Amino acid sequence: MAGPGAGLKVATPRPPADIDSRDRMIVALDRPTPEAAMEVVVRLGDVASFYKIGMELIYAGGLGLLERLVARGKKVFLDTKLLDIDNSVAGAVRSLADSGAVMATVHAYPAAMRAAVAAKPAGSDLALLGVTVLTSMDDADIAAAGYAGTVRDLVARRAADARAAGIDGIVASATEAAEIRRVVGPDLLIVTPGIRPAGAEAEDQKRVATPAAAIAAGADYLVVGRAITSSDDPAGAAENILHGIEAGLAAR
Ligand code: C5P
Repeated sequence: MAGPGAGLKVATPRPPADIDSRDRMIVALDRPTPEAAMEVVVRLGDVASFYKIGMELIYAGGLGLLERLVARGKKVFLDTKLLDIDNSVAGAVRSLADSGAVMATVHAYPAAMRAAVAAKPAGSDLALLGVTVLTSMDDADIAAAGYAGTVRDLVARRAADARAAGIDGIVASATEAAEIRRVVGPDLLIVTPGIRPAGAEAEDQKRVATPAAAIAAGADYLVVGRAITSSDDPAGAAENILHGIEAGLAAR
């Protein structure tokens, strides 16, 4: 089926260098209700083409938005953050494969990633992304969670594991994008949340970068939530992000 992900070739899911900048900006619809999320989509209009549906919305009945967004010609990233026993991860991926989403996430634990990759049907348009270390965590947070070493070490290790598992891409901070590219090679996607325009508050995020810095460091796609959705002028804030993407591409 030529679904909404037809533009993303799963064998090489990286976007071509000349895609429209707006197709590199994924707006995180972290809103409390589907209605509130649709309000953002309507206000953004043609400025945004790609949306992320994550936990807040999924548990508030927001999965139904997937079809509505696809019907409007938008691409959808389902931020499922899968981590479970292999059988459950595999079942989730089979359920997601025909959902119309073009990206979904699995935490970058080797067994979970292998189970996810093995379960994805051949020809599916779904790109599976491994979440390395949440952008809200710094060295102290991973130490508190029981890990030895630094965030950079753990990200590099998980990126190598993701590549070995055959996953399509990586979610990580832009501050590690260049190192990840070195580890995973040219074919895997790099998707970076933790994006803040210059001068904006980091809030709960700790490993942040500006849109221009993230793209210049090699990110393929940026995930941007509150910088757009909490703005009084979401379309203006999104245009500002797009200018940053263009500046980052020019600096590559
Ligand atoms: O509002 P903000 O731009 O910080 O939102 C970032 C989005 O990216 C959130 O939806 C969050 O769940 C997601 N995310 C992240 N860090 C990761 C993976 C996903 O912030 N490592």
